[in-house]
Amino acid sequence: MKAFFKWLLNSIAVRISVSTAFVVAATTVAVATLIIREERNVLESELQKKGTYLAEIIAQQMLEPILYEERYAMHSLLRSSMVSENDIVVFGIVYDAKGEPIVKLTSKWFKAMPADRKYPMSADSVSVMEDAALQVYDITVPVIAKGLGSVGYLRLGITKKFLIKTIEDVKNKLYILSSVIIFSGIMTGLWMARKIIRPVLMLNQGVKRIGGGELGAEVGIVGDGEIKELSIAFNEMSRRLKESVDAIKTAQDNLIRTEKLYALGEFSAGLAHEIKNPLTSIKMLMQTVKEKAQTLSSRDIEIIEGEINRIDKIVKDFLAFGRPARAEFITTNINELIREMVTLSKPKMERSNIRLIEELDDSIPIIMAYPDGIRQVFLNVILNAIQAMEGGGTLKVSSSSDNGTVAACIQDTGAGIPDEVSSRIFDPFFTTKEEGTGMGLAIAYNIVREHNGEIVVSSTANRGTIVSVVLPETIEQDGLRE
Ligand SMILES: Nc1ncnc2c1ncn2[C@@H]1O[C@H](COP(=O)(O)OP(=O)(O)O)[C@@H](O)[C@H]1O
Ligand SMILES: [Mg+2]
Repeated sequence: MKAFFKWLLNSIAVRISVSTAFVVAATTVAVATLIIREERNVLESELQKKGTYLAEIIAQQMLEPILYEERYAMHSLLRSSMVSENDIVVFGIVYDAKGEPIVKLTSKWFKAMPADRKYPMSADSVSVMEDAALQVYDITVPVIAKGLGSVGYLRLGITKKFLIKTIEDVKNKLYILSSVIIFSGIMTGLWMARKIIRPVLMLNQGVKRIGGGELGAEVGIVGDGEIKELSIAFNEMSRRLKESVDAIKTAQDNLIRTEKLYALGEFSAGLAHEIKNPLTSIKMLMQTVKEKAQTLSSRDIEIIEGEINRIDKIVKDFLAFGRPARAEFITTNINELIREMVTLSKPKMERSNIRLIEELDDSIPIIMAYPDGIRQVFLNVILNAIQAMEGGGTLKVSSSSDNGTVAACIQDTGAGIPDEVSSRIFDPFFTTKEEGTGMGLAIAYNIVREHNGEIVVSSTANRGTIVSVVLPETIEQDGLRE
């Protein structure tokens, strides 16, 4: 719940629509208040003018009745100004020159009574007072005769009932209008938010796609202005990212190939030697046959066949290793790969006075692996071990399995790795050898990691080094490289 509110507060869409709605509402309310105030002012001053005008006209007609004290005439004059419910005059009082009321009349539809007042007022001029309680304008005008001055006063009550009703009407209309405006304001806000947000959401999705590994993912060009520029820039960035990653991959592939060629070069002498042995035995056999001028016995043929098969296998392994990498995970026997690589390096070991101990556990499970890659790992590690034992030594290769993993161990009695370089041996191009590439362990590390495995090196200076390659029996799908 708390998280939802936090999201709500941080959502751009909600912020935009709420702010728009707020601005629209505030503006509308301000404008409506202004309109009502203006309208009231105009209506009030008009009503006062109208009332004063009416009072003055009636006062003129009152002159004669006042002069001749005709009360009945005064009465009917007042009555004629309030004949219906729609007349604005609600009461009328005629005063004599001393300010004593002479005639008083109240409209049938006006229930209240005006307060008694003594006249004349302060001056012989029009006075407009507002009686808030009765909601009337209380207007007094003098009745003036030429040469005589004020002969009396007329006091009229002008109701504000119609004015109030008109203002109420205006108010109601404004309320409806305001609601419509605020509602459409909110709608516009939401719509704008959607319009602004949509490209942002699309960009967001694009970023997630790239984050999820879909390099070069592009978003549609949407919106105008900055948003459009942003999506164009995003696509450009995504494209460049893919280009650089591709370039890095190509460079990496090239490095792997270089290191592989280097390793192959190191062992090609061994290969030739390996092939030479069976060839020599075939040759010797043929020579004997030739010298003694006898035919080949079936036993000879069997030997020759065996030797040819050996050559065939060696060449096949060598070619398999040299093939460009195709990262295909297949069922793989780790012992078999170790044996192949040991065979390939045997001649080199013999020349360097290195004794071989093989302790392969034949009960280890078959695992899912990428054999060419693993071949390269073993070859690099064995080559390092041989190179570390210049004055001879013992190379021990072993295999074991434990809890869903298979481990291959390559142990040498060589120079060991000094502490100060041990943290850098997996770095690309780190080498302590004159002719080294420094790529062997870096590549081995990558290959093992692609198998979700582990390569662990432990070493004691001048005593030797143990390199363990631990691989899981099965590989998770995301460990695969496309
Ligand atoms: N078995 C080992 N014994 C001693 N040092 C080793 C061993 N394996 C690796 N190293 C050290 O790690 C460095 C990096 O090895 P690697 O990446 O294979 O590159 P390179 O063999 O081309 O030097 C080597 O130069 C060496 O100093
Ligand atoms: Mg190496």
